[in-house]
Amino acid sequence: VTGPQIRVRPSQELARQRRSRRHGCWNHLVAAPLWPMHGANLGTLLRTCDAVGACLAVPRLPWVPEALARGNTLRRPACVHWTRGDPTRWLREQQSSGARIIGIELADEAVRLADLPAARQRTIAVLGHERSGIPPEALDLLDVAVEIPMIGTGASLNVAVAGSLVLYRLAGFL
Ligand SMILES: C[S@@+](CC[C@H](N)C(=O)[O-])C[C@H]1O[C@@H](n2cnc3c(N)ncnc32)[C@H](O)[C@@H]1O
Repeated sequence: VTGPQIRVRPSQELARQRRSRRHGCWNHLVAAPLWPMHGANLGTLLRTCDAVGACLAVPRLPWVPEALARGNTLRRPACVHWTRGDPTRWLREQQSSGARIIGIELADEAVRLADLPAARQRTIAVLGHERSGIPPEALDLLDVAVEIPMIGTGASLNVAVAGSLVLYRLAGFL
């Protein structure tokens, strides 16, 4: 039995189909790894942000700009917002200015990824600390938590994978 003929699009064709210039800051969907530990996760998330038209909000810890530059494999990186001071205070400010705060976390009250609707208003998608998750003071600010179901032996996903899946869903592409 022969299946359908699949033609893989060559890279020059893909490049022609993509934007030739970076779009401005849409500031509609923002991935927020506010307690980062591993630079590689930030580079991967930045690439997903570019793919879905999101921004990345990250604290300007001394190692972060260099890690983002190293992890970035795009000619024109996505939009980065530098958060200042305490991440929880930054989240509260975003909420006060009308943004919806979604926590990407393994939590009893979380909705499953498949039940998460696309973002209809400015949305901040918060990712937790790689070891300890979203701290309690930030959990108190969440409008909703979303969990990605797992059936394997691993306790949790890598932060960049979890963030990428949720960003695709919030962008309405999944
Ligand atoms: C390694 S996990 C932290 C694990 C766990 N919260 C803990 O305290 O051990 C780091 C972050 O990745 C995200 N994450 C990983 N797996 C996830 C999943 N299945 N669903 C939702 N978020 C997940 C969350 O943002 C979490 O805070």
